[in-house]
Amino acid sequence: TQAPVNVTVTGAAGQIGYALLFRIASGQLLGQNTPVKLRLLEIPQAVKAAEGTALELEDGAFPLLAGVDIFDDAKQAFEGVNVALLVGARPRTKGMERGDLLEANGGIFKPQGEAINAGAADDVKVLVVGNPANTNALIAQSHAPDVPAERFTAMTRLDHNRALAQLAKKLGVTVSDIKKMTIWGNHSATQYPDIFHAEAAGRNAAEAVNDQQWIENEFIPRVAKRGAEIIEARGASSAASAANAAIDHIYDWVNGTPEGDWVSMGVPSDGSYGVPEGLISSFPVTCKDGKYEIVQGLEIDEFSRGRIDASVRELSEERDAVKQLGLV
Ligand code: NAI
Repeated sequence: TQAPVNVTVTGAAGQIGYALLFRIASGQLLGQNTPVKLRLLEIPQAVKAAEGTALELEDGAFPLLAGVDIFDDAKQAFEGVNVALLVGARPRTKGMERGDLLEANGGIFKPQGEAINAGAADDVKVLVVGNPANTNALIAQSHAPDVPAERFTAMTRLDHNRALAQLAKKLGVTVSDIKKMTIWGNHSATQYPDIFHAEAAGRNAAEAVNDQQWIENEFIPRVAKRGAEIIEARGASSAASAANAAIDHIYDWVNGTPEGDWVSMGVPSDGSYGVPEGLISSFPVTCKDGKYEIVQGLEIDEFSRGRIDASVRELSEERDAVKQLGLV
């Protein structure tokens, strides 16, 4: 075993937090040889609830859990952080304009970016889950100039996993038979789940499906609108599956992706695939030795090009909007 890794979770008293913390404590975030110290950040009104969760974490008697500290101050919460999971965000409430939403989230992600800049460990890795995740990640990143820009990522792994599950179901194979799934663009309804480079039990997935109608009118909207489907069925938004995806995102970033496969992560664009540099957009990535790389050289046909461009356009508009608000 090694020294404990500091994991900061914001929004720790929320529903994703409740599903996430126990899995981190059990060793699923980093692996079974890595002790973790949890640092929970909440707003003052929710600190008591976070303390309740900490009591339950204690009752889990997790061998790898080296401690739990609770904060209502970002500067303290991110002191020495190695892995930052930014889950807490301001949800869109009825009648709220996009500008108001971005501004409210700027009020959260700007100080958190500054706190990460001031106190994080040199190897810090940041995952933004709170929506609008890609643009919140951009805001935090722009206030952390001393942290390498590529350490700021946004979660599209839930979309990736949803796409794996839907495709496996369609083809009557298991999810582990599917490789090289890709989510492109924004974590929003414009995202593009791409099966043209995916493989299902060794065959090209789009050829195995052989049904463009299904891809366009069933698969893509089903994956992109799955969040709404969950809310409709459950009466609450995705929480355990979102927590699961956050675990997958960090686990793979730290431990690497398997040979012959890749995952989807929202990462700062280096200009690959025509995505303007600096936008935090979802790409296919491989991970190794704690670093990720955007998969290069994929052929993008006209259909995929149109879908990617539409989602990237939305990301550019969000970036312009937060620029105008002085948030980046
Ligand atoms: P929730 O409302 O149950 O919990 C959010 C928590 O964040 C609350 O306890 C709140 O007190 C806390 N919080 C608010 N402002 C904070 C701040 N400045 N610092 C620390 N904590 C703060 O929400 P839930 O269901 O846990 O979802 C959290 C976020 O994750 C939402 O923005 C949601 O839209 C997003 N999400 C993203 C997904 C993705 O795939 N990227 C999937 C599912 C949810």
